[in-house]
Amino acid sequence: MASGMQVTPQRILRAAGNRAEVAFRFLMRLFLPFDPWHRMPLAAKDYAVGIIEHLNSLPRNRRGRVADIGCGLGDILLNLAFNERLGLDIDPAVLKGAEIVRLTHFKGQARFSVYSFPGDGLDGGFDAMIMVNWPHAFPPDLLKTGINRIFRNHVNPGGCLIIDTVSKDGYPYCHAAEFLLGDLGGVAEQIGVYPCGRRVWKVTKGLEARKSGR
Ligand SMILES: C[S@@+](CC[C@H](N)C(=O)[O-])C[C@H]1O[C@@H](n2cnc3c(N)ncnc32)[C@H](O)[C@@H]1O
Repeated sequence: MASGMQVTPQRILRAAGNRAEVAFRFLMRLFLPFDPWHRMPLAAKDYAVGIIEHLNSLPRNRRGRVADIGCGLGDILLNLAFNERLGLDIDPAVLKGAEIVRLTHFKGQARFSVYSFPGDGLDGGFDAMIMVNWPHAFPPDLLKTGINRIFRNHVNPGGCLIIDTVSKDGYPYCHAAEFLLGDLGGVAEQIGVYPCGRRVWKVTKGLEARKSGR
């Protein structure tokens, strides 16, 4: 029988782990009313795996503080090797779930806090700021204004913003990266391409940048 994919013990273990994770999330939803979307495990989100690999490969001195806005259950945040990890989300139920995942999956230290983009404020500067799989819900001008404020005031010199865009119909907004990121004053590069026309971008702030300017 010809087959393109070999069944290895590692594959079997991974598949079993994913099923267990889906069941775990299903059970959490019985008492935490977060969106059913969050039942999807990390392994099913290739863009999230790509972001984790990219950020964890940054030099040690670029992995101080990280914030993940719209972190959901913390699939990205809780797998990042940074000194200080902050998960922010508008939904208190999903944040409670993220804290349960942190504790039950032995994911180390992290803080979670309710935060609503673009209105809420942030404290201090971050070496990486993540905004993925929700910017497509915001109209371009509002999103751009919010990104500008966060990039200017809360991304450290030498730090980066990670954001995604989608191009497939069915999302409220398909943003043009050039419009959103072109005049942030950092170096923008594409770090991943995925199904649904999803592109993941990184904008790195110059070392000479100051809080008040570019
Ligand atoms: C589709 S999930 C993506 C979760 C995570 N970023 C990931 O990719 O696995 C979108 C998340 O963004 C959060 N969210 C939506 N609008 C938000 C806003 N205005 N401010 C903060 N979080 C928001 C939702 O509550 C949800 O947890």
